[in-house]
Amino acid sequence: MEILVTGGGGFVGRHLARRLIEGGHTVTAFDKADAWPQGAAGGASPPVRRITGDLLDAAAVRSAIEAFSPRVVVHAAALVGPTLSLEEPLLTARLNLDGTIHVLEACLAAGVGRLIFVSTEEVYGQFRHDPVPEDDPMSPLNPYAITKAAAEWYVDFYHRHHRLDGYVARTSWVYGPGFPRLRLETKIIADALEGRESLFRSGAEHLVDYTYVDDLVDGFRLLIEHPRPGHRVYNIASGLSQPIREVAAILQRLLPAARVTLGPGLLETGPGLPMPQKGGLDISRARQDLGYAPQVSLETGLSRCVEAARAGRSHHPLSPSRPGPT
Ligand SMILES: NC(=O)c1ccc[n+]([C@@H]2O[C@H](COP(=O)([O-])OP(=O)(O)OC[C@H]3O[C@@H](n4cnc5c(N)ncnc54)[C@H](O)[C@@H]3O)[C@@H](O)[C@H]2O)c1
Repeated sequence: MEILVTGGGGFVGRHLARRLIEGGHTVTAFDKADAWPQGAAGGASPPVRRITGDLLDAAAVRSAIEAFSPRVVVHAAALVGPTLSLEEPLLTARLNLDGTIHVLEACLAAGVGRLIFVSTEEVYGQFRHDPVPEDDPMSPLNPYAITKAAAEWYVDFYHRHHRLDGYVARTSWVYGPGFPRLRLETKIIADALEGRESLFRSGAEHLVDYTYVDDLVDGFRLLIEHPRPGHRVYNIASGLSQPIREVAAILQRLLPAARVTLGPGLLETGPGLPMPQKGGLDISRARQDLGYAPQVSLETGLSRCVEAARAGRSHHPLSPSRPGPT
């Protein structure tokens, strides 16, 4: 079927496009001009039709969606991550809220059959349960999470009011070759390969659901292809809660030259500002309704990241900002 992916030049979008094309679908990717890499890692240059446009330009979004009349739109474009959103709260609101409404309106105008909105575990705030089920209340604690939660409500509204067949897929820390931002695992790998020490003030006890990108995009594919999913919101993640110290320990084994110092406690957004504790995402609903079954262990996934970095296959220079979640 014809599928349009906003943010199709980004990390998740590229992997999703590749997976959908392998599954026999036709993919159009909508993204900003600077998102199209040469020789994208993990993307393996599938024949994706590219449309360059800005999410903030409602007419551009509408004409892209109308031009290709996709059966399904996956809305993955966003300003991503709590850390960046703390620095850019206004831009976060414009991209993640206005941008989502532009996509929803365009879907209505073009008669799109299904919309899948890519959301985040950040909407749960401090986890009350580990693993956290979809029915736990949203309690967003930063601009990124607040805008994603509000966008989820818009998806729900367009479904109830306009009968747009919208779904929300919440995911966690997605990782894999080509991950574009500085995060614990990308920093440790880059430091080790360049002979630097990796220093983290804190974070050893922070719990994270690390989801390998191939598993995530398989979950999305199942949600796209299912004739009638039983729920509107799905956690698509690994389902496992991993302390960050375990991630660091695996990388230390894979990269014997790595010199990692990881302080105790939770990750921090700044000195003395701990982030809310997370954990695993309960994926039983996706398992039952969609047949979702993640395959890639943390050890295997991290070793693929190390191999790709050694081979110079991480096409994106890492964002220079300090390490942060998602
Ligand atoms: N990567 C993670 O760990 C993670 C975790 C939870 C949720 N998510 C969600 O997954 C989605 C994809 O994230 P990602 O990791 O691939 O990030 P990414 O930054 O690689 O991809 C986002 C894409 O959105 C595009 N975009 C941003 N502003 C735009 C604009 N004005 N017009 C058009 N395109 C624009 C970017 O160019 C980029 O290609 C996001 O919605 C994010 O919130 C990601």
